[in-house]
Amino acid sequence: MTDRAHAARYTRPMLVLGVETSCDETGVALYDSARGLLGHALHSQMAMHQAYGGVVPELASRDHIRRVVPLVEGLLAETGTVLTDLDGIAYTQGPGLAGALLAGASVATALGFALGKPTLAVHHLEAHLLSPLLGDPKPAFPFVALLVSGGHTQLYAVADIGAYTLLGDTLDDAAGEAFDKTATLLGLGYPGGPALAKLAETGRSGAVVLPRPMKDSGDLNMSFSGLKTAVLTLVRREGALAAEKADIARGFEDAIVDVLVAKTLAALDQTTFSRVVVGGGVGANRALRERLSAAALTRGAEVFYPDLQFCTDNGAMIALVGALRLRRGVADDYAFTVRPRWELADLSTPP
Ligand code: KG4
Ligand code: ZN
Repeated sequence: MTDRAHAARYTRPMLVLGVETSCDETGVALYDSARGLLGHALHSQMAMHQAYGGVVPELASRDHIRRVVPLVEGLLAETGTVLTDLDGIAYTQGPGLAGALLAGASVATALGFALGKPTLAVHHLEAHLLSPLLGDPKPAFPFVALLVSGGHTQLYAVADIGAYTLLGDTLDDAAGEAFDKTATLLGLGYPGGPALAKLAETGRSGAVVLPRPMKDSGDLNMSFSGLKTAVLTLVRREGALAAEKADIARGFEDAIVDVLVAKTLAALDQTTFSRVVVGGGVGANRALRERLSAAALTRGAEVFYPDLQFCTDNGAMIALVGALRLRRGVADDYAFTVRPRWELADLSTPP
């Protein structure tokens, strides 16, 4: 296809099906570049993995295989869409669990091939990072992005779609991972992040004061594994009664939020940007939202969050990124591969 034909083809509105299967959620969605999100559906495997205290990769892959086609069929029926309406099919190529990624990638690619429509390999973290664009008002570029998920805790300078510069990273546990591990120490089950946050609401602020690791390190890197160890020491020493557990949960949340807020403000200072975008599961945390928004305001900056349902893994953010990339004329062929390990900074910049 010539450049001109390519450009002409992508100036009209695009309808993209998104498929997310990187971990323990099967998510599908339809995003129209003119009309926005038309619909989405999600199946969480949380209950299935709960018995094992964590995600079992082989079970995750098998469940994605079972769920993805019925979910797509249901979404098409619900939105009155037929497959031939689609302009492209986007899927999560990585990072994530290899087998789980393959389930979504193979279905999306087979569908694209059968329909003769382009498929788009989406980076899971780019999708989290751009997920506030599903909302209204949408953040304008450039912005600082705080990515806080179960696997990542990173700060980026985002100049435009595809232009991501890593500013800071966790040196050990991710924020969500720290929430989950601490929740386990407090006997809250899996995944513990939301349960720990709920318990923290009943705890007293200042009753338990935990360290703020690397808060004053002078760079934008973070470290959270020490917090979990501090909680372990407390639990062992005090045997942790129910009321103390709430105070510990509060002390933990206060510490982690304090560090995340301080590092995000430092990123604003460093970049001189006036907007922050938060993405990833921990972005659902109410204390983080309240304190980050208030702190950013003191710098004259505004913070954008995804809708709560789009903080954790979902198909909507994948369909969104697929549509954004398709409009820029970025489409791959049908030779797919998955990338379980994939740095966002390595993502190729679209033309
Ligand atoms: O983005 P996500 O769905 O998965 C990854 O891509 O990693 O994030 C899941 C993480 C889990 O660690 C979960 O415990 C945490 O987000 N999370 C929370 C909250 N809701 C989810 N952590 C703290 N407070 C919450 N309200
Ligand atoms: Zn995620």
